[in-house]
Amino acid sequence: MASSSFDNVAVRLKNFAKSFGSKVVHTNVTFDVKRGECLGLLGGSGAGKSVILRSLVGLEKPDAGEIFVEGQEISKLAEIELLEIRKKVAYVFQNGALFDSMSVFDNLAYALREHTDLSEDVIRERVLKGLEEFGLKGNESLYPASLSGGMQKRVGLARSIILQPKVVLYDEPTAGLDPYNTRRICDMILRLKERGATAIFVTHDMPAAFLVCDRIAVLKNGVIHAIGTRDEIEKQDPWVSRFIEGEEY
Ligand SMILES: Nc1ncnc2c1ncn2[C@@H]1O[C@H](COP(=O)(O)OP(=O)(O)O)[C@@H](O)[C@H]1O
Ligand SMILES: [Mg+2]
Repeated sequence: MASSSFDNVAVRLKNFAKSFGSKVVHTNVTFDVKRGECLGLLGGSGAGKSVILRSLVGLEKPDAGEIFVEGQEISKLAEIELLEIRKKVAYVFQNGALFDSMSVFDNLAYALREHTDLSEDVIRERVLKGLEEFGLKGNESLYPASLSGGMQKRVGLARSIILQPKVVLYDEPTAGLDPYNTRRICDMILRLKERGATAIFVTHDMPAAFLVCDRIAVLKNGVIHAIGTRDEIEKQDPWVSRFIEGEEY
């Protein structure tokens, strides 16, 4: 269902509501992410950031509201239809979640072997190019156990994006990383952005958010409390400035 009102919109949440039992997490969340944009999603622990990302790949169903991905309403799709969506939308988990029994090469090749009909030659080319592009060249025959935590995360990210998704959802990809690996992850995100991918970046890392995001949305008390550029959201509410400065939680 492509309609002209979606021409520039890659992701739209409209009046999204979600509770778990008696715990109300989202009362009414509405926002758009424009095609090619990186939207930062901030909010305290338990605010419901991960639930939003999980909903965008159909791992959670909203109680009310609509979720559009590339113009298609996905909240009521059956599991089989969601498989197609998950090829377009990569959800980058907090820990790289690599397969321990596979080399770096096979970890990356896995998605291509599972989801495409590409020949082994083309897969090899694509994987090596991906590793090179993300500064991971020369590590293809290593196993996850021999990699540092930061390297594992970078390989995990490279694996998530090897299918060249249109939308990438990053769930705290720099959590627990040193400045060097944080910077490398930000570089990877910026690189994907140059290629035109749309992104939602959940993080508590303000410098990283300001580095890679075009706009920032702050989730609080079940709604989008503020959304816009850094300047815009700071003007919207002094609470947001205090939150950004780490004085509010
Ligand atoms: N599957 C679930 N069952 C019950 N409660 C859940 C489930 N998933 C998330 N929650 C609750 O929803 C709230 C928001 O969770 P989450 O989206 O993970 O927060 P965060 O903003 O830290 O990512 C939390 O209170 C969490 O305990
Ligand atoms: Mg979370």
